[in-house]
This record gives sequence, C-alpha cells and structure tokens, in this order.
Amino acid sequence: MDDHPAEAFVWVWLPGATEPVVVGRLVDRGSVITFTYGRSYLGRPNAIPLYLPELPFRRGELTPHSGEIAGCVADAGPDAWGRRVIEYQRIGEAAELGTLAYLLASGSNRASALDFQESAVDYNPRGHDLVPLDELAETVDRIESGIPLSPALERALHHGSSMGGARPKAVLADGVQQKIAKFTSATDSYPVVKAEYVAMELAHRAGLSVAGVSLDRVLGKDVLLVDRFDRTLDGGRKLVVSALTILGLHDADGMAGRYATYSDLAFQIRSRFTDPGATLKELFARIAFNIMVGNTDDHARNHAAFWDGTQLSLTPAYDICPQNRVGEEAAQAMAFGDNGDRLSQVARCIAHSDIYHLTAEQAREIVDHQIDIIHDEWASVCDLAELTKADRDRLWGRQFLNPFALYDY
Ligand SMILES: Nc1ncnc2c1ncn2[C@@H]1O[C@H](COP(=O)(O)OP(=O)(O)OP(=O)(O)O)[C@@H](O)[C@H]1O
Ligand SMILES: [Mg+2]
Repeated sequence: MDDHPAEAFVWVWLPGATEPVVVGRLVDRGSVITFTYGRSYLGRPNAIPLYLPELPFRRGELTPHSGEIAGCVADAGPDAWGRRVIEYQRIGEAAELGTLAYLLASGSNRASALDFQESAVDYNPRGHDLVPLDELAETVDRIESGIPLSPALERALHHGSSMGGARPKAVLADGVQQKIAKFTSATDSYPVVKAEYVAMELAHRAGLSVAGVSLDRVLGKDVLLVDRFDRTLDGGRKLVVSALTILGLHDADGMAGRYATYSDLAFQIRSRFTDPGATLKELFARIAFNIMVGNTDDHARNHAAFWDGTQLSLTPAYDICPQNRVGEEAAQAMAFGDNGDRLSQVARCIAHSDIYHLTAEQAREIVDHQIDIIHDEWASVCDLAELTKADRDRLWGRQFLNPFALYDY
C-alpha cells in the first residue's frame, strides 16, 4: 500500500443500520487533510453530520479549523499502540507514513462507527476473521520483543490496530458481545491489568456508569476484557467522539491535549448533552473516583460521548487505571477547577462543586459513598482479581486511597 495515499473514503454505520454507507472523501493537502461529503450521502433522508460544529452538512471541501484532520475522524484512527502494530507490519518499508496510510492500514473493527476505504463503491473490511485470545496474546509478546509473526498472527494484529490508546490491545467477540482485550505489557512494573480491573469493578460498585469488565489469564498473563459500548448487539455501531474533540482540541495541542479541562467539559455538558444535570453529577463522581484510585491518566481521550447527529451523551467510563506513583503528591491530567486546579485531592474537587451543579454537601455525599465502597468492597474485589497479599499491600494507600487524596477532607 501507498505510504502517502492522496485520498481515503469514509464509510459510516448510520444509527440503526447494520451495514455501512459511504459518507465522503478525505484528501491529503500537505499540512491538512480536508473532508468533503459525497452527494449521495447528502441526499440520504437519514444522513447525519459526522460531528458538529466540526463537519457541517454542506457541499464542498471542509478544512479543519485547527489541527491536521477533523477530530471525529482522528478519534476513529489508531493511536500509539495501533501505529506500532502497523509500523511493525511494514518493517523494511519507508518509516514515515502519512496520516491516511494509518487509517487505511488499520483494521475495520475500529472505535466509533466509521471506517476508511480506498473505494467509494466497494466496502472491503480489513482484519475481520476472529482470532482466539491466546494467539492474540502471543502477538503482543512477539511485537514487544521484535520476533517475526506467522501469517495467521499477522492477520490477528488487525484486530487491535484500530483501537486507540497506548497499551497493547485487541478486539474480539464473545458471542454477540464485542470486547476489548487489554494485555499485560513487558514494561509493566506492577500488576497494571489487575489494578485496572479492581478500579473498574469498584467504580461500578460505587454506582458509576462503567463499561463491564472481567479478567482472564492467557499464556500465564493477565488480560482485561472490557465490554464495548460502541457496538449494538445486532451488529450496529455507534458514533463516539472523545472529550478532546468535544473541546475542539487536538493531540497537536500538546500531550493528549494539555489545555483540556474538566471545567470546559462541564460547560459543553451544560449546553450540548442530553440530561445535563445527571451528566454533570456523573462527571464529578468520575473525577472524585479517579482521584481516590490514583488514576492520574484521565486525559481527554479517556472520556467520550455518543453522537446522534444532534446531541451528545456521556459514554460509560473506561480506562480507569491506577497509575504508578512515587511519593504522595499527584495531579490529575485535566484541571477540574476553573482556576486550573488539578491537584489530586477530593477536598479541592469539592471546592469546585458548583461547576458541576452540585452543592458542597451533595459533593461530599458522593465522595463519602465512594470512600465507604472502596473500604467495604476492597477485599472482595481483590479476591476476584486473585491479587496476592503483597500486591494488595502495594496498591492500598498508594494508588487506592492515598492519604494525599484525602488531605484536608
Ligand atoms: N469499552 C469500550 N467501548 C468502546 N470503546 C472503548 C472502550 N474502552 C476504550 N475504548 C476506546 O478505545 C480507546 C483505547 O482504550 P483505553 O483508553 O482503554 O486504552 P489505553 O491503551 O489504556 O489508553 P491510554 O493510552 O489512555 O493508556 C479509547 O480511547 C476509546 O476510544
Ligand atoms: Mg486510554
């Protein structure tokens, strides 16, 4: 395949549809990639804009206002892990690939409801054969240690290349439920997969809306299985945009959107989301929970919303992953205060509760409940994860309920 394709066609699964239709064309104009809606798509009675205000429904070439490519398109493309897989597959070829090459090389079972094709007429999915979990786990090992793959394993790679994120992962189906498998990485210095499981399960028990998770062991290593929320059980797909896109920001604005804040996201929720009151409360609860389980990797690609053509609604929470921590002091990736406050302390978060339309008392109730659940359910969730005593002792008081998080509370 071409390293710098001049164009790629975007296909979409419209709400309720189980087959994709062609939407329009991406064209590489050097420093930017433009998008043009196709006439056939604009003429469809059930067509929706891919995302607003970014890609308004009109004829002609749309140039991104900022960044290289429309954010909703970037959200459906591969991230650090997926790019690594694609580069691995193309060893010996030109090292530098154009943005459209990554979109056209990654697997079709990607995040959100878009896919990218060389043709506007024929839809040919890439990487659609199902691969057993143990084969997938083997590919992760091999890629990380640079060992060549068999042709079957090469095909298996397509399953992970299109999902975003930096950690090794793949997509698979468990009956009609599609899942994301997140693998242990050779560079993990603590049981990351189990810690993510424990945090996600505790979040669910604390009443947050969270993607369903389970743990598996493959080739002696832990694998986290996460239920996908961007698929329907009848084979449909749901459009999803990241908070980065909702905030009108891009990766080019700095590491995972340096300027993205929870307070700006709250502003968007008030004006553009379904059920803003309940959504603001849920967002506050997610911020508080991230602080209490040491998930400081809560950047703007780790929050997302469904897009129905008119309105946004928050997706279930995902990637609540306690981070490695040296010492006590920590800061969240996104500021929750309108003054840039991002220090990982629930008391500070409560001081800004009005941004989330909560009184200090309501905010305290949420935090108190979460603290109770973390205390009460810790042992049973750690049992489910089969965490050793040593690992529990390492995580408790460091990632989970670090004294710093509860300072002044
Ligand atoms: N349950 C889910 N359903 C649908 N899409 C999901 C789900 N979980 C994650 N995603 C999508 O896949 C991407 C990667 O997943 P995730 O954030 O869990 O991976 P990661 O490698 O741990 O990320 P990071 O780089 O933030 O560490 C997310 O940004 C999101 O777009
Ligand atoms: Mg992530």
